This record gives sequence, structure tokens and C-alpha cells, in this order.
Amino acid sequence: MDIFNEIGPLKAFLRLKKIGFNSIGFVPTMGALHQGHISLIEASRTENSITVCSIFVNPAQFNNPADLAKYPRTLESDIVLLEKANCDILFCPETSQMYSSQSQVIFDFGKLDKMMEGHYRPGHFSGVALVVSKLLHIVSPDRAYFGQKDYQQFKIIEKLVTDLKFDVSLQCMPIKREPDGLAMSSR
Ligand code: PAF
Repeated sequence: MDIFNEIGPLKAFLRLKKIGFNSIGFVPTMGALHQGHISLIEASRTENSITVCSIFVNPAQFNNPADLAKYPRTLESDIVLLEKANCDILFCPETSQMYSSQSQVIFDFGKLDKMMEGHYRPGHFSGVALVVSKLLHIVSPDRAYFGQKDYQQFKIIEKLVTDLKFDVSLQCMPIKREPDGLAMSSR
């Protein structure tokens, strides 16, 4: 697996890979990977010639600094899981790469980001939309994979991609569950 921490070298590498009609599948994550994430990698591998995973704990989507501080960071074991799943490329940037300047961009999805989880976490979905926009620009994938567990997030990303005319096909994949039925989660 090729691992990149910086945007420029990743983009240059992907530009070369795209020559020859290779299709790119993309699985954005915040790490602490589990079987749910790996099922997204597997789906991408069956539908694309190259699979890119990103691991980035995105500060913009945490409205509580304590949650950001205690979010699990398990890069070494994540890399082991990704190699086992035959992921081709990992992008794991530092915050300074993704937010080199303080972003003033705010997204408003009307009712969609004010209800359910959005009601309890103001600004969360704007932060998700911001980082997903950046990642889609950087990776420029043919297909991007998300879990059905975060269905509200998926609908918001769907709206983002439609409104901003990103040239990517979004795939919403089935929930992976623990033996007791609970949806697998990083937290
Ligand atoms: O679902 C997640 O893990 C995150 O919200 C995402 C889509 C990777 C954006 O940071």
C-alpha cells in the first residue's frame, strides 16, 4: 500500500494512475477502522481498479473539543487492516495539510442538517461537507463509499455532490453489525 501525508504528491500519483482508464474508488474515514470500514474497502475493490482510503480526524465536524481530543487514533493498526484488505493507497494528512488557512466556508442544507443528529451537533454537518468537498477535490474518485449507518450524513453528502456537481458516483453500503445486533462504530 502506498501511503501519502501530503496533497501534492498524492494528486501527482493519482494523475498517473488514472492514465489507462483506471477507475478510482474512495473510502473516506476518520480511522479507528473496523469491519464496517473494511466492507467499504472490499466493495470499492470489486468495482474499481484502484482503491484509496483516507484517515483524517476532521476538527471542523466536532462542535465539542473534548470529543475531538478523545476520538480514537489508531493509525498503526489501521494500516495493518488496510494492507490485509489490499487497499492500494492511504491518504493520512496532518491537520495543517487540510486546513492550511482558517476556512470561513459554511454549508447550509436547510432542514436536512437541522434535524436529528444535526439538532444536537450544530455545525457538525457543515464540517463534514467541508472536509468531504476537500477530499473529493484531492482524490477525484469515480466512486465514493459511505456506510448506511450514517444515513443522514449520506443524504447531506448526496446533496453536496448534486448541488456542487462533483463528478462522482456515491455508494451507500449496508450496515455491518456486532453479534448482538449493534451497528459497528469507532466510538
Ligand atoms: O463518516 C465519517 O467517518 C466522517 O464523517 C467522514 C465522512 C470521513 C468525514 O470526516
